[in-house]
This record gives sequence, C-alpha cells and structure tokens, in this order.
Amino acid sequence: MAFYVTTPIYYVNAAPHLGHAYTTIGADILARHHRQRGEDVFFLTGTDEHGEPVAKVAESQGISPKELADRNARQFQDLMPRINASNDFFIRTSDPRHKQRVQEVMQRIHDNGHVYKDLYEGWYCPKCADFKTEQEIGPGNTCKIHEGTPLDREREENWFFRLSSFEQPLKELYAQRPDFVSPRTRYNEALAFINGGLQDVSLSRANLTWGVEVPWDRAHVFYVWFDALLNYYTALSFARDGDDLTERFWPASYHILGKDILKFHAVFWPAMLLAAELPVPERELIHGYLLMRDSEGIETKMSKSLGNVIDPFEVMDRFGADALRYYCFREVSFGHDGGVSTVTFGERYESELANEYGNLASRTLAMITRYRDGVVPDVDVDADLAPDFDGLVAEVSELLDRAEITQALDRIWQRVRRLNRYVEETAPWQLAKDEAGSDQLDVTLRSLAEGIRTVTVLLHPYMPETAAKLLEALGERELTLESAAFGGRPGGGTVAKLPQLFPKPQ
Ligand code: MSP
Repeated sequence: MAFYVTTPIYYVNAAPHLGHAYTTIGADILARHHRQRGEDVFFLTGTDEHGEPVAKVAESQGISPKELADRNARQFQDLMPRINASNDFFIRTSDPRHKQRVQEVMQRIHDNGHVYKDLYEGWYCPKCADFKTEQEIGPGNTCKIHEGTPLDREREENWFFRLSSFEQPLKELYAQRPDFVSPRTRYNEALAFINGGLQDVSLSRANLTWGVEVPWDRAHVFYVWFDALLNYYTALSFARDGDDLTERFWPASYHILGKDILKFHAVFWPAMLLAAELPVPERELIHGYLLMRDSEGIETKMSKSLGNVIDPFEVMDRFGADALRYYCFREVSFGHDGGVSTVTFGERYESELANEYGNLASRTLAMITRYRDGVVPDVDVDADLAPDFDGLVAEVSELLDRAEITQALDRIWQRVRRLNRYVEETAPWQLAKDEAGSDQLDVTLRSLAEGIRTVTVLLHPYMPETAAKLLEALGERELTLESAAFGGRPGGGTVAKLPQLFPKPQ
C-alpha cells in the first residue's frame, strides 16, 4: 500500500524556526509509523522560492533572488537531518524540472478553459503575497495575519483562474468526503468559505520576473501559490532519476499544514486539480500554531515578524533532536494551538524523558546485568502486567490514522508510567536478596525488558535516534508494528551497555 505525506514547502525569505520544524516532525512521525506498517512510503518536504517576498528581501540585501534562495534553502535542507526527518526528497521550486511540470499542468488548466485575462484591482499583502478579501482586511487596510502590515492597493492586467466555477464541484467533494479536511473545525471553516461564494483569483503577475513563466504569455509569471501548490504533484515526476513516481504515489495520502494556509490547500488546490483533471489528495491535516509562552504566561504566535522564534538548532544543541521532537508533540496537542517555552521544555526533559523513560531503561538493563549476567530470562511475561498492554498497538495505529499524534503518544506514555509502577510494585532488588524470589525475579526482569521494548518500538517514530540506541542495547533490531505487541518477542537475548539517553544539558 502506498502512503504519500507532505509538509508545506517553506518560504526562503527567512531562516527555519521551530514552527517549521514542528510541521516537519509531525509529517515525519506519520511517515515513520507507516513504514513500520510495511507500507510503501514517500515523504516530501522542501522550499517555496518564488514570489515577491523573496525578490524583495534579495533586493534589500543587494543579491539576486536565486542567491538568496540558494543560501536559505540550504538552511532548510540542513534542518532535515538535524531533526531526524526521514524525508525521501527535498523539492526546491526553483528547480527547472519543477518549473517545466508547473507549465505543463497550468497549460492544461488553460486549455480546459479555466483561465481568462482581465484587469485586477485589490488590496495586496506583500508578506502573504496574496490579495485579500473583505473579511481578511484588518483596521486601516492592514493584514490580519501579519498584524499591522499595511496592504498595498494594486491594479494590473492579470490572468485569472475561474475559481467561481468550482464552487459546486467543491461542495460535492466536501459532501462526499467528510474527512477531506481535519480536524472538523477546519473542515467547517473551509466549507464556510466555499459556501460564502467563490470569486475568481488572479493567477499571474506582470511586474515580477522571479517565478515560473506563464507559457502562453511570457511577460507574466505565475502567482507564487499556483507554482507552490503544484510542488506536491511535480516532485513525484523527478524525485527519482529515470523513475516517475506519479503513478505510484499520486494522489497524496496526507498534506500536513498549519491553519494559516488552509484556504490555499482546502479551496484553491482541489479546484486546480479538478481543473487539470487530476485526482485530489485524500486528506489534509491542519494543525494549530505554536505559541511562545513568556515568563508571565502570556502566549503569542511564534513568527519571524514578531521576533519571538525559538531556534530549533539551539535547542537541539543542548538537548538533542529527539527531545525536541518529543516535547513538541507532548506539549502541544496536534491540531490545536499551544504554548511552548524553554521552562516547560526543561521540565519535561528532566521528569519524563530522563527520569520516567531514561531511568527506567538504564535501571532495568543494570538489573539484568547485575542479577542475570546480562541475559534476559527466557520465561513468559508477567500475566498480571500483560493486560495493561492489550490492544496498545491497535490503539496507537487507530489514533495515528486520525493523525492524533499527541493522543497516541499519551497512550504509549501511560505504559511507560505503568512500567515504572511495576518496578516499584515488584521491587526486584528485594527479590534478588532471597533465592525464593528467583523465579519471580526472572518474570519481572523479562517483563520489564519486554515492556521497554514494546514502548520503544512504538516510540520509534517520535524519537528514532533514542529508540534505535535503546533497542540495540536490548539486542533487538525489529521495528515493525507487528513486533510491537507485548510478549511478541522471545526472551533469552543478551543486553549491552546503554549510553546515557538523556544526559544533563550543557
Ligand atoms: N510557502 C508557503 C507554503 C506553501 S505550501 C504549497 C508558506 N511557507 S511558510 O514558510 O510560511 O510556512 C508556513 C508553515 O510553517 C505553516 O503552515 C506551518 O506548517 C509552519 N509554521 C510556521 N510557523 C508556525 C508556528 N508558529 N506554529 C506552527 N506551525 C508554524 O506558508
């Protein structure tokens, strides 16, 4: 079974921040989980390099847009391995192969009669690179998204996309596919936008050269969103040299994105695909904003224009990538807005990662080494503990099927805590004192090793590097979901020394 997951492609007019890492990690968790299921997975991320904002920043720095794009795209490319993202490809929209495919698809939309030329006048936000509708304009003609940014009154001859003629087809799409957009609040929001009546949208820019040329009118470039959205489709045709993956992976299974770009993905994008007679993606998963919580508990959106961004590189230097991945999805329920702060980060690192999980693993391995010469006893797991793990794998899979990434993590963590209680209840150090406790000690150590293995296989999508280290110390390689059942692997293996998983930060 094919599973194709994407992130938005990020603008190169600024450096990556935690918000970008957050979306990418969310997509990565799903990609890794589906690989554990044995599916044929393709995970795409990349950079959105055209458009006015990039051209403007480049101009202010006295360099060409391409130079700026090259420099900043590199930072996003570097971010991916640093956050342990397992993307199969990184698309850059300045890639000539992307441009060519955009022109082909847009030409088809043109030839199908969905494009016309007209004069356009409207309020335009240079930061969004978007003309604004009435509801999107703030007091004094400012942008509601980029608070306070004055909108420009723009007038130009443009090519238009007949979005209005897709009102009915989009209503039908939404009626037929109740989970096309989730969570439900975002589905309702997108549908309300469609029901409010769709206006045609400008598709090209005349006074800009940094973009993909309109093939039927070379004096224009495509409005950046048309070029950008198509990345999800074009990438498949050239991601693997000589092997077009379009048939295998299109339509996408999941587009993951923040709520700021809902309209483009949930309205424009399916309309474009319908116009080009291409299948629309299966699902769009919309998440909320990461908000910075300051020392007074006040939360504001993390954004480059507000200058309150957490630098993911800095956090990872101190705590490691997996801690960042864990924290983001533990602290902020995927789909909702949520506050992050360095204080709660430190707390969770210490109490959950280092104590509840790291110590559980190191204590268990140390006891197996001390009491059983490093060999996991080859006995059955504890029948009293087993019911607490019943159905866990199915539960986690079902939650991840609904992209409930935080809830799935919570279910796994409940078992980490259950194992800690089990240590206290069984007190292996007491059992070890007395020969009469020997059989029970075997069962306890075996159950702890197996419990840790189970949660670690399930945690692998969240913390791949840590999970790999821990599984190796347990003498295990198997990562499949099938193998994750408690008691699913035999005892009798030899454990190795475990490096400290969550050392005290520098
Ligand atoms: N280039 C467009 C997307 C084109 S997709 C065809 C764009 N780029 S962006 O660089 O602004 O990235 C926006 C995305 O980054 C959001 O949708 C979200 O996924 C992520 N985030 C940026 N800031 C964020 C937060 N503060 N919180 C959560 N996610 C954030 O829009």
